[in-house]
Amino acid sequence: MTRGRPVIAIDGPSGVGKSTVARSLADKLGFRYINTGAMYRALALAADEAGIDVADNESMKEFCASVRLGFDKAKNAIIINNGDFSAEVKTQKAGSLASVSSANPSVRELLVSFQRSLGKDGGIVMEGRDIGTVVFPDAELKIFLDASLEVRAERRHLELKGERETKADVSAEIQERDRRDTERKESPLKMAEDAVRIDTSELGIFDVVEMAFDCARKAGLVVK
Ligand code: DC
Repeated sequence: MTRGRPVIAIDGPSGVGKSTVARSLADKLGFRYINTGAMYRALALAADEAGIDVADNESMKEFCASVRLGFDKAKNAIIINNGDFSAEVKTQKAGSLASVSSANPSVRELLVSFQRSLGKDGGIVMEGRDIGTVVFPDAELKIFLDASLEVRAERRHLELKGERETKADVSAEIQERDRRDTERKESPLKMAEDAVRIDTSELGIFDVVEMAFDCARKAGLVVK
């Protein structure tokens, strides 16, 4: 390991509870929590705001070549061309735009390199789809969270309570995202061979955090 401190990668599909688990685990370990999905969402919103069709590969490539990225440590949020998108990243619109633009190789190249630079000293729990496979394949601990489509749709539906979608709509949306995430050519969602898989379908969040913490302890990452 060339880093001073470890990296913990948490990957998995939409609506599986990655954010809550990763944030809680980071708190327990005294690590920084980094949400890479929020970066894909913010970048897609910034491009959309600039009038760019996020499905158009050439326009997105040009956008990525000119964009300036920063990070607000206090807000734990990516800053794009001086804009802070943290208030909007959780919306359905941001999720849909990101689901399309994240298949673009220029988008992935830009954000993967940004994520590596943020995590280079370690002491982080980073969550996403490709953290254990692409961003930090040498992470000291990799956890892959999974759950049934039904459970994930239920959780996402509760989370989006302000946006009035029915559970069936949310389920269809997640299925479509699963398809895009797993079938895309660039860094598709898949479990790293050396990841620990936790199926959270039947588990409460507290139990999942405890299991993840136990994995960290077994990996020797908990300093007493
Ligand atoms: O985890 P999320 O729902 O906030 O992610 C938003 C979108 O970004 C999702 O469609 C998948 C994509 N994403 C990705 O391709 N790679 C990551 N490391 C994180 C998210």
